[in-house]
Amino acid sequence: MTKQKKYLQILRRKKQRNILLVVLVRRPRQLSALVKQQNVFEINDLNLWYGNNHALKEINFPIAEKEVTAMIGPSGCGKSTFVKTLNKMVERVPNVKMSGEILFRGQNILQSDVDLVELRKHVGMVFQKGNPFPQSIFDNVAYGPRVHGNKKKQDLMELVEKSLQDVALWDEVKDRLNGPALGLSGGQQQRLCIARALATKPDVLLMDEPTSALDPISTLKVEELILELKKSYTIVVVTHNMQQAARISDKTAFFYMGELIELDDTNVIFSNPKNQKTEDYVSGRFG
Ligand SMILES: Nc1ncnc2c1ncn2[C@@H]1O[C@H](COP(=O)(O)OP(=O)(O)OP(=O)(O)O)[C@@H](O)[C@H]1O
Ligand SMILES: [Mg+2]
Repeated sequence: MTKQKKYLQILRRKKQRNILLVVLVRRPRQLSALVKQQNVFEINDLNLWYGNNHALKEINFPIAEKEVTAMIGPSGCGKSTFVKTLNKMVERVPNVKMSGEILFRGQNILQSDVDLVELRKHVGMVFQKGNPFPQSIFDNVAYGPRVHGNKKKQDLMELVEKSLQDVALWDEVKDRLNGPALGLSGGQQQRLCIARALATKPDVLLMDEPTSALDPISTLKVEELILELKKSYTIVVVTHNMQQAARISDKTAFFYMGELIELDDTNVIFSNPKNQKTEDYVSGRFG
């Protein structure tokens, strides 16, 4: 019998204590609703210019914890730019100017005193094409933890094994950990890069078209992995593949010419969007 049913039974028996028991029954539900609504990022009125090119316009975008948010939109609409603002990578580009705020766990990371190493430990990134370092498989995964000061061989070994298991690569590479990462297949390299990002135990994983260079089987593996990872991580994934967005994401954001046109539950975006441009894009009328 569920806890709730038990409470209701007690309620029926002890009517005189109704009020107190109703409070007991309801409380956990209210609490879980609150936890679900927590946002890892809150982006408010964000603008970004590359020189004179106004690439992001007045973006307001909450990113919910432990959900997969997909970003879709035509080429050049600002998807990569947006994800790169979330770990401040975009600021490496000369002549970038920004306004607004990006709150990560309540702290505005656009302020200059943010510790970049610390931020990127919490907000990991995976790129379109797996880009392993020209080092061993082990050293690739151990890279992040070493940068953050973890030098103990035993700790590193455990972390490397756990990260490779999390991306379902351990069995394929456990006998060649000291072999070159560049000797892996494309799909394996991509999973290795995800393992490298996971090894610092991030909070958020940013993925910019993580499967666009992969064959269908490797793509499926990465998609399954994303669904598994969202139990522990908040994931933002850019994709040109609408079926992929529909398969793996909870929320979908449609960008167009630097604007966030619509953000909603994925099933709403694909079946009943509010904006005509979204409707046109998801039904393949342009893009
Ligand atoms: N490093 C850069 N320097 C100058 N302009 C840039 C830079 N990166 C992107 N842009 C410009 O910013 C705009 C948005 O580009 P962005 O790469 O974010 O688009 P995207 O939606 O990721 O496109 P795609 O789907 O082709 O990857 C484009 O006009 C692009 O030319
Ligand atoms: Mg891009």
